[in-house]
Amino acid sequence: MADIQTIAVIGAGIMGRGIAHVAALGGYRTILEDLVPAALRKAESEIRGNLDKGVELGKLQRADADAALGRLEYASSVEQAARDADLVIEAVPEEMESKIEIFTLLDKICRPATILASNTSSLSITEISSVTYRAPRCVGMHFFNPVHKMKLLEIVRGLETNEETLAASVAVGKRMGKETVVIREAPGFITSRINAMIGNEAFYMLEEGIASAQDIDKALKLGLNHPMGPFEMIDLVGLDTRLHILEYLHKSLGEKFRPAPLLVQYVKAGRLGRKSGRGVYEYPAQSPAAAEKKS
Ligand SMILES: NC(=O)c1ccc[n+]([C@@H]2O[C@H](COP(=O)([O-])OP(=O)(O)OC[C@H]3O[C@@H](n4cnc5c(N)ncnc54)[C@H](O)[C@@H]3O)[C@@H](O)[C@H]2O)c1
Repeated sequence: MADIQTIAVIGAGIMGRGIAHVAALGGYRTILEDLVPAALRKAESEIRGNLDKGVELGKLQRADADAALGRLEYASSVEQAARDADLVIEAVPEEMESKIEIFTLLDKICRPATILASNTSSLSITEISSVTYRAPRCVGMHFFNPVHKMKLLEIVRGLETNEETLAASVAVGKRMGKETVVIREAPGFITSRINAMIGNEAFYMLEEGIASAQDIDKALKLGLNHPMGPFEMIDLVGLDTRLHILEYLHKSLGEKFRPAPLLVQYVKAGRLGRKSGRGVYEYPAQSPAAAEKKS
């Protein structure tokens, strides 16, 4: 099986920084890259904060947290991050053009044996890997938000993904503390397909005036035993990310995934969820002005 020692993570947003956290904690030399310097600074302070919290709560030994921090490096170019990596995990925004651009570049920079993974929530790993000369060593590794807390890793097998790559991805997931499910590629895999459907339906209900966002969330939590309401979830995921997923599912699976007009409107208004300070709900402490002051 491929011997993975160094992992590069491309994109240090909500997901990339979480993936870097669990990779470093799993004992891998980890290099996190983003083209926006502020994103890297934010990632560094969030990873440190989350590790400290783990120690405070008694879930983690101080020595393990410090060792993880010692294994983390930060880079401002894909070349610098990926040239020595045995596994690269891409976590840039959910747009096919961006994924293709990164995979084309990675294929040129990385050693032939390096495995290329995408954290895409819905897109075709077969299509993403088609721009490389290493489709058998390309795979989907779909983590969940927040990565350091969520147990599941969906591993997605593209048309040409080989057994060795799948085995290596499962082994890496295990060292990161994850349970894995390996699935054959299909739009939205298992989780995003179902989650997008529930969240979209909730937006249609809100638009139709059936109930308030708070009551829709309350109904799913207390009546259906969901740990989070659909609007709390979409604010965490990012409304723009969810819209990208729905647009792709609509295109590939048909009418039942047509994005709710109210969701489209919220994204146009810049209401992207927690990350922008306002989504379905408001998060005053994280307003863009407050975030700017912090950085
Ligand atoms: N947000 C979620 O809950 C969630 C869950 C599972 C999977 N995902 C998937 O993870 C991926 C990333 O989503 P996110 O929520 O972290 O997005 P995000 O918007 O929080 O972060 C994306 C980061 O990528 C950086 N970036 C953009 N282009 C880049 C490039 N060319 N090179 C390097 N960095 C670049 C941006 O500066 C940003 O920091 C998407 O494919 C998304 O579908 C998201």
